Amino acid sequence: MFKQGVMVVAACASLLLGCATVEAEDTVAPSAAVEAFGQTPEGQAVDLYTLTNSNGLRARIMTYGALLVSMEVPDRDGTLADVVLGFDSLEDYLAGHPYFGATVGRYANRIALGKFSIEGTEYTLATNNAPNHLHGGNVGFDKRVWAAEIAEVENGAAVTFSYTSPDGEEGYPGTVTSQVTYTLTNDNELKVGYKATTDKATHVNLTHHSYFNLAGQGNGDILSHVLTVEADHYTPTDATYIPTGEIAPVANTPFDFTAPHTMGERIGQVEGGYDLNYVLNSKDDAVALAAKVYEPTTGRVMEVWTDEPGLQFYTGNFLDGTLTGKAGKVYNKNFGFCLEAQRFPDTPNRPNFPTSLLHPGETYTQTTVHKFYTK
Ligand code: BGC
Repeated sequence: MFKQGVMVVAACASLLLGCATVEAEDTVAPSAAVEAFGQTPEGQAVDLYTLTNSNGLRARIMTYGALLVSMEVPDRDGTLADVVLGFDSLEDYLAGHPYFGATVGRYANRIALGKFSIEGTEYTLATNNAPNHLHGGNVGFDKRVWAAEIAEVENGAAVTFSYTSPDGEEGYPGTVTSQVTYTLTNDNELKVGYKATTDKATHVNLTHHSYFNLAGQGNGDILSHVLTVEADHYTPTDATYIPTGEIAPVANTPFDFTAPHTMGERIGQVEGGYDLNYVLNSKDDAVALAAKVYEPTTGRVMEVWTDEPGLQFYTGNFLDGTLTGKAGKVYNKNFGFCLEAQRFPDTPNRPNFPTSLLHPGETYTQTTVHKFYTK
């Protein structure tokens, strides 16, 4: 055993001629639309944004958690399917779920024992994944209602979400002003761009937490999906998923996806299933290919590109059939996989890892792209 440790903004309106040409080619004008999705128990209104690109791909994102509710992409015959797990109603999200589609922060992944120090001051966070802190605490960014605004972009449709996290929220120092922009491009990419600033030194690590199933959400497990990861190394952990600090080679382990393998091929050798952080090979800050996933029955491919140094690969090991998702589909173990671009786990306590510290005057940024096509 290996331990792992509807307001529509459309380009079409004033461009009648352009639209006609577009329709003749069987494409549509990209658009962004908004509708009400419900309200939280505290009475905060939640909106749902729909982005449609010129090829008819559709992403729906709500203001609760700046969370991707659905992502419809074609198979090799052009048939659209929703490839992310989630729910049909806001009430189901409010009832609790394992971060389906969410924007996770202020610190995605784990912080050992919920403690870190900055300049000699120790901060204590919730140990909501005992004995550790996970995904920003009890009420992380995934459970906040974000402000939203449709953004004008050249090559698709976009919406920007904003949230200001007050000083001391969930135990973290500093007021953090954060933004996440989802852009659905006409090149069939879902681009997620982040920005954050602070008024006191703090740790920031944001990620996108969709559970993907390229055969369509709820259509079986993901074990026959073929994965390649651009990483020669990973960060081994203890039994509570806290890194030991070592940067270990993946060679000769079931974590080696430098050549394509199905997710299921060696999963039996990994206690609990895959749940580990890869150290991506790319050494500069440019957006580079991090992983590629191919689903053979539908031909759908998703590439993940990012400028982050780490990628958490998680095979939905804790899904157990107790959640019923969209269209009445039951989510059993391994029914979705996550590829979360981020800093490494427990970075605030690991000076040898690429830093997650953000000072006043600096801007945290991240660009992660999910590119869809078929073969
Ligand atoms: C983590 C898992 C955790 C899951 C919660 C993933 O990012 O790697 O350990 O159980 O999030 O949904």
